[in-house]
Amino acid sequence: MKTEIIKVNSNNVDVSRIRKAAKVIKEGGLVAFPTETVYGLGADAFDPRAVAKIFEVKRRPLEDPLIIHISKKEDLFELAINISNTALKLTKRFWPGPLTVVLKKSDIVPDIVTAGLDTVAIRMTSNQIALTLIKEAQTPIAAPSANLFSRPSPTTSQHVLDDLEGKVDLVIDGGRTDIGLESTVLDLTQDTPYILRPGGVSAERLQDVIKTLKLFKSQDKIISPGMYPRHYSPKAKVILVDENDRIGVEKVRKLAYNFNLQGYSVGIIAREENKEKYSEFNVKLLGPGDDLIRCAANLFSVLRDFDRFGVDMIISESVNEEGLGLAIMDRLRKAAGCQTKHS
Ligand code: TXA
Ligand code: MG
Repeated sequence: MKTEIIKVNSNNVDVSRIRKAAKVIKEGGLVAFPTETVYGLGADAFDPRAVAKIFEVKRRPLEDPLIIHISKKEDLFELAINISNTALKLTKRFWPGPLTVVLKKSDIVPDIVTAGLDTVAIRMTSNQIALTLIKEAQTPIAAPSANLFSRPSPTTSQHVLDDLEGKVDLVIDGGRTDIGLESTVLDLTQDTPYILRPGGVSAERLQDVIKTLKLFKSQDKIISPGMYPRHYSPKAKVILVDENDRIGVEKVRKLAYNFNLQGYSVGIIAREENKEKYSEFNVKLLGPGDDLIRCAANLFSVLRDFDRFGVDMIISESVNEEGLGLAIMDRLRKAAGCQTKHS
């Protein structure tokens, strides 16, 4: 299959271009498109055969459910039932935006989308290209991140092509995504709202609206399959150094030095302020440690850049676990194959 690429400006969306992509969706094809978080790989959520193709091309296990993307808040009522006041408050406050809510599903949602669960994940993105695509396709779009299963999520159309060229009908190139990390997935089906996956909306901001919010704990059973311990992984082995100070820098340097001696090609992920400390190594910068928005936006690109470079080992510094830092550390721990340590 030849993958068609369409360039669209997300600040000034040319609807006639999007119509072509919408037609692909209507005809049961696959379209990769930008959202404000990462690129998604979309199919008509009501077409089980099209959705099945998503799993096939991503090599994603069928037991890992997808998010349904909608273009109007009202569409929530078509896809979910038992929608609580909390859900209404949250979607009012954070949609369109990087929040996914998990609710009891309505009968019209195909089982393949939810992996047989009786719950469904729904989100309304703020990206104008995605919103236009959903509107023009006249159907909600089921879409996971547009990467091969367990690889870092794509933040550019090139990342999508690196993983999926020749396997999807069309890629909409809308430039680099703003946030660079996936949406926050929030389970609203229990009495207590649970964050299943930290993401673009920080726990602190959610807590402004819901005081009883809890973070998913790794010792609980895996209730969101995206919580598989090894995920977001580059080809290289990732070692995450948890200390965030001078001792941390020393540890990173020592590890890099030792692996170099053993003949491995080593990459270091560092905060901008520590750049000079690693001048003799192959270092890539996340961003200033006090600018977690920039760090989040760069994370997946940096992991993929090291892959392209072909390093064997990536040694990464940590960031502060507040705001977006929680999501950044979650992805780094998963890239390193460690359990997420929320408390
Ligand atoms: O920002 C994002 O969320 C991106 C863009 C494309 O929207 N999408 C994304 O999708 O990251 P995906 O499939 O890579 O991750 C969705 C996560 C998975 O961890 C999945 O297990 C979880 O949401 N999920 C989906 N439906 C669920 C459900 N019914 N119950 C619990 N978790 C669910
Ligand atoms: Mg994903």
